[in-house]
Amino acid sequence: MTFNLPTDHLLLGSCDYPEHVPQDRWAPYAAQQRALGLSYVRLAEFAWSRLEPAPGQYEWAWLDEAVETSAAQGLKVVLCTPTATPPAWLVRAHPEMLAYDAQGRVREFGSRRHYDFASPVYREHSRRITRALAERYGQHPAVAGWQTDNEFGCHATSRSYGGASAGRFPEWLREKYGTLDALNDAWGNVFWSMEYSDWAQVRPPNLTVTEPNPSHLLDYARFASGLIAEFQAEQVTLLRELSPGRFITHNFMIFESGFDHYEVARGLDFASWDNYPTGMLEFFAPPGVNEALKTRYARTGHPDLVGFNHDLYRGVVGRGVWAVGKDSTPQPTAHSPQPGFWVMEQQCGPVNWAPYNALPAPGATALWTAQAWAHGADTVSYFRWRAATMAQEVMHSGLLRHDETPSPGHAEVGALDQTQFPLGPVPAKVALLHDYESLWLYDAQPHAAGLSYWAQTVTYYSALRSLGADVAVVHADADLSGYAVVVAPAVTLVGPERAARWAAAMEGGAHLVCGPRTAFRTPGGGTWEGGQFGPLSDLLGARLSLYDSLRPGLTQGVSGLGASFEAHTWAESYRPLGAQVLATYAGGPLNGEAAVIRRGQATVIGAHSEALIGAVLAEVLTTAGVPVTPLPEGVRLSRRAGQVLVQNWNPEPTEWNGRMLPPVSFQVLPEADHA
Ligand code: GAL
Repeated sequence: MTFNLPTDHLLLGSCDYPEHVPQDRWAPYAAQQRALGLSYVRLAEFAWSRLEPAPGQYEWAWLDEAVETSAAQGLKVVLCTPTATPPAWLVRAHPEMLAYDAQGRVREFGSRRHYDFASPVYREHSRRITRALAERYGQHPAVAGWQTDNEFGCHATSRSYGGASAGRFPEWLREKYGTLDALNDAWGNVFWSMEYSDWAQVRPPNLTVTEPNPSHLLDYARFASGLIAEFQAEQVTLLRELSPGRFITHNFMIFESGFDHYEVARGLDFASWDNYPTGMLEFFAPPGVNEALKTRYARTGHPDLVGFNHDLYRGVVGRGVWAVGKDSTPQPTAHSPQPGFWVMEQQCGPVNWAPYNALPAPGATALWTAQAWAHGADTVSYFRWRAATMAQEVMHSGLLRHDETPSPGHAEVGALDQTQFPLGPVPAKVALLHDYESLWLYDAQPHAAGLSYWAQTVTYYSALRSLGADVAVVHADADLSGYAVVVAPAVTLVGPERAARWAAAMEGGAHLVCGPRTAFRTPGGGTWEGGQFGPLSDLLGARLSLYDSLRPGLTQGVSGLGASFEAHTWAESYRPLGAQVLATYAGGPLNGEAAVIRRGQATVIGAHSEALIGAVLAEVLTTAGVPVTPLPEGVRLSRRAGQVLVQNWNPEPTEWNGRMLPPVSFQVLPEADHA
């Protein structure tokens, strides 16, 4: 089942807010959108106060008109449930629906996302407004599909630390553990006398004197993630019933960590995400992205930070096995997920929310669009049609400026030849394994200020991309058949089932590369009694020896693979028990210990060194038959549907493969003509 307009190439859209402008602008805007080559318009994700200005008093006339105006131009509409912005009358009538921040304070009305996913009364109103909208527009011929809510987790709203969530957490624990003994045992609460003797004693893991127990954190993150999945599933169920044949998606965020996206994406037809490359570099870049790099890519964003998110969201729905052993999750629907994804909000000028909000480089909007296509996007929809003239986002750009004249981004969109971007599969032979539970555990105890789950993961991703490889980011429990190389950069939580899946992938011929801290932690959040690598010990033929946290300027030498390397930030060593040693530490407290080990087709890299990681991955890819094309800084290749997209993200012309690539530019070439 495919949900796109009949097309064999990328389609474009934009996010529009008719409720923000006088009605006499609607028809000209729709005509201009069509003339620009747009196919979709997204409407109404924050419009609740206009759709229902008073309890039960629905005002559909304006949205009817807005939908008809778009339809008259042949545009298809993506409608949204407006639940990210409950109106003031609802909040004041039910203040118990509000969420609490980690400092224990109520998060007040006056912006957006002011609700607790666990609130029964808010759930009721979320279902009510969803039903009302779906009854009104569910079968409208111009409505192509639905977006649920808007950016779950935005503004740190995945977890509430009081109110309804806090009230429900003990119930969730009781359901999961059955007895307090089991809970105390699973969390290791004997430590610091944290044992509970009544369920009601358990609170969310905030406001503790020093760090909370990571097992407590892990379960709270699981609990909160399950609430988001439940909240969305209620909307999805109604939309399925009342709007048959339309797609349902959600616009996920850049590097959002607050919930398990595989769990929440379950039941959607495809994922969407909101791509703001320059804001991402300034605001969401993982530790390790240094100031020089931020300055270099200030006007484009970094190709691999963007590429990683594309490759993540391409795989977040439908790439198989959803996490095993989940609690309070909805059942998958019968709708078969399609490959591909949408960029629901694509930056096309400066944003307003980063510490610095640079003008994008000439060519950047076109380059971002082309990259999204090459990584599997079926539609790219720009945020927003016209720059807002009121409220919080007046500093944000749009395809039209405040005065309605076209922005530079508009000109770039207009110049795109959409037929240049055929739909089709992304031929990745490399799977990069990802797991939100590992993320939560890792980031609860990073042990080195320069490191995080994303930093370690993106370092491996970037190494693969700079070798010219296409990458699929997949869940750590996904079906791995068909991949030649499987890379687990930071999957620190590995239980016996996961270990068995990886072993099966290797029996099927895959090569496995693991980063530091792989299989260090149990599903409960502790460490394995037998030490790292727990259930992977036999497969990897080694045990952890020592780990070292390196402050900036403190480095650790490594020698092996015919070269010397310098590790920074993190170095761990292994005691081989059957594995061969490919590289050893040189100097310092780890001198002579194993830094890189291999058993069969499984390799473990213990040191954080970009050069070492690149060298090991290049060797493994070559052995596995995946073509390696070392690329200069800022040059990237991405393949889709028999084409290769050659990209130059550098602010200067860059020579590659005998050709001079203009700054911030791309070319689409037939893959056959090109290695
Ligand atoms: C997104 C959000 C939009 C808008 C945009 C500005 O995170 O979904 O509503 O705020 O950022 O860049």
